[in-house]
Amino acid sequence: MKIPKKVKSKNSVATASFFGLRSLRKLNLSDCHILEGAIPNDFSSLCSLEYLDLSRNNFVTLPARLNQLSQLKGLRLGCCKRLQSLPELPSSIEEIDAHDGTVMENILCPSSVYRSKECGGLRFTFSNCFRLSENESSNFVAATLREMQSLANKLPRFQFPIQVREASYKRLCSTKNILTVNGKFPGPTIYATKGETIIVDVYNKGNENITIHWHGVTMPRYPWTDGPEYITQCPIRPGSKFTQKIILSTEEGTLWWHAHSDWTRATVHGAIIIYPKNGTKYPFHKPDREVPIILGEWWKNDVNAVRDEGLATGGDPDPSDALLINGQPGDLYPCSKSVYNFPFLIADTFKLTVDHGKTYLLRIINAALQEALFFSIDKHKMTVVGTDGSYTKPLTRDFITIFPGQTYDVLLEANQRPDHYYMAAITYSVAPKYQDFYDNTTTTAIVQYNGYYTPSSPPSLPYLPAYNDTNASVQVMAGLRSLANAEHPCNVPLSTSTNLIYTVSVNSYPCVNNSCAGANGTRFSSSINNISFHTPTVDILQAYYYNISGIYGDKFPSDPPLVFDFTADYLPLIYQLPSSGTEVRVLEYNSTVDIVFQGTNVLAATHHPMHLHGYSFYVVGWGFGNFDGNKDPLRYNMVDPPFQNTISVPSNGWVAIRFEASNPGVWFMHCHVERHLTWGMETAFIVKNGKHPEAQMLPPPSDMPPC
Ligand code: C2O
Ligand code: CU
Repeated sequence: MKIPKKVKSKNSVATASFFGLRSLRKLNLSDCHILEGAIPNDFSSLCSLEYLDLSRNNFVTLPARLNQLSQLKGLRLGCCKRLQSLPELPSSIEEIDAHDGTVMENILCPSSVYRSKECGGLRFTFSNCFRLSENESSNFVAATLREMQSLANKLPRFQFPIQVREASYKRLCSTKNILTVNGKFPGPTIYATKGETIIVDVYNKGNENITIHWHGVTMPRYPWTDGPEYITQCPIRPGSKFTQKIILSTEEGTLWWHAHSDWTRATVHGAIIIYPKNGTKYPFHKPDREVPIILGEWWKNDVNAVRDEGLATGGDPDPSDALLINGQPGDLYPCSKSVYNFPFLIADTFKLTVDHGKTYLLRIINAALQEALFFSIDKHKMTVVGTDGSYTKPLTRDFITIFPGQTYDVLLEANQRPDHYYMAAITYSVAPKYQDFYDNTTTTAIVQYNGYYTPSSPPSLPYLPAYNDTNASVQVMAGLRSLANAEHPCNVPLSTSTNLIYTVSVNSYPCVNNSCAGANGTRFSSSINNISFHTPTVDILQAYYYNISGIYGDKFPSDPPLVFDFTADYLPLIYQLPSSGTEVRVLEYNSTVDIVFQGTNVLAATHHPMHLHGYSFYVVGWGFGNFDGNKDPLRYNMVDPPFQNTISVPSNGWVAIRFEASNPGVWFMHCHVERHLTWGMETAFIVKNGKHPEAQMLPPPSDMPPC
């Protein structure tokens, strides 16, 4: 069989047929300068193949059907410059050699080979991998060992380093330096099993302060490495290191990690995937494959500059220039289409290749700084089966609304005519279009069926609601129910000991001569119960633990200081001015807490995705208008409310949540819209220790970053 030395057009080898080579045992396609798409996709006739050598080629994605090679023992991928993921491999595989390659975005995916018992004898070679830093390879080895360990039914534990550092990225035709983890954007995925503890050595190799937070991980009794800057720790300074524990307990599904210092989370974020414990299963049919879908935002300008400018003028910071799916804006933006710069394929629009008839678990994360998003896939339904690291009853929808901070686990069945289909996301915003307050662009990625056909060009866009359709924005929230079965019980507190009402408002401060760029010449602010949070310079956790006075106050009000018609169309200007302070609320250990978040129309009504650290909570009720303490609680869902860590208070509406304060520590609570957080929409809870030693906070690690 003759394979040309150089392949110039994208598909020239893809059409090559292996017909007639039924007894072929070795196939050597090394040094062909093979590009993505140029590798034959269908190997089904080569059932006797034992060795496949694809080394020294340039491709991004391997053919999805390598698992058809039921005799395959050895796979050589050495020096493959742009190899990013391994497809599912047959369980016959004994050796993978990927030395000196650019490996590999998704290698940690538990494709069948890692899950199968046969993997015990598998040999991996990943020496000298180009751009595969030590961190990632040790992460990989640890994860592989972990798979094997869990087969042996041991409690796995693992540790790996990450580096926060700058890297240069080109989007929308222009290049800038961004802060990344290990040079990657979005950052690497952390794979874990329910109940596991993972240790991460965080090295700050950048030139600004950072902290890292494990969003949705409750960190039982151990707020020390939770991450929010000046709440539970002081920042990790450039050149220093902090060893953080991620303590998983009841979480199962999709969570994420992100920087928690100023706006650094814009580019410092990634997925956390938590598998069921060995011996337990997903509460739905096992998907054929899983894929993180990380939604984000991109500014051409430096994000710190965007933030600083907003703070300097007092106005709304500039909206992003693009929305992103897995780090790419997609075909509707300039410079996001496939670019071949022979022999390299420059990474472009995200593509999800699917086989007809298979089911895919999309682990969707809204990592955007500011924007709530409508997300949909053309001609395909999505079935929500989990949110925020907790399973739900299946909920089938044409589109979902995902607010900043939230995650949705969604099943996608590849059951349509083989073709290319767009998935797309747009902003949900109540801001008037002309005000330019939000990113009104559309990000896309492609669901691409395997097989031979002529794809529609361009693919059609899915239906998405109008950008300001508030009724559409609450559709998923309205249908979401927790599983509430024997394996995944619902423990919502039926009665509560602590009842709090917190208003969440956008406010303003007056400026001399109305010279600021906020509404009517004022400066934007925001508040909870009319207190705009003032960030201390020593973290609250340390001040609490060591009794340092003067850092925070513990008089956060249980109710709004002024009661008025919060959602009225016109409100007197007097309500716009917040007070300022560093107030927290102290909760008794094991108290049962009910919080009603009341949205207001003080300056402008909008949604506020409220996030609580240290807990997930039951979302027992919500509505539009003012909360009615007599009537509304009668309609609470006490049977199967969803269990979440971030819940969006609807524009001019309210949400009620419940939790039991059984996790002692200092726990941040804030709006996950970054500019609202910058303006002061945050506070914290201090949950006191209980009597028993197991009900008390653990001592701090010895390497807490100094203030
Ligand atoms: Cu996702 Cu306090 O954060
Ligand atoms: Cu907000």
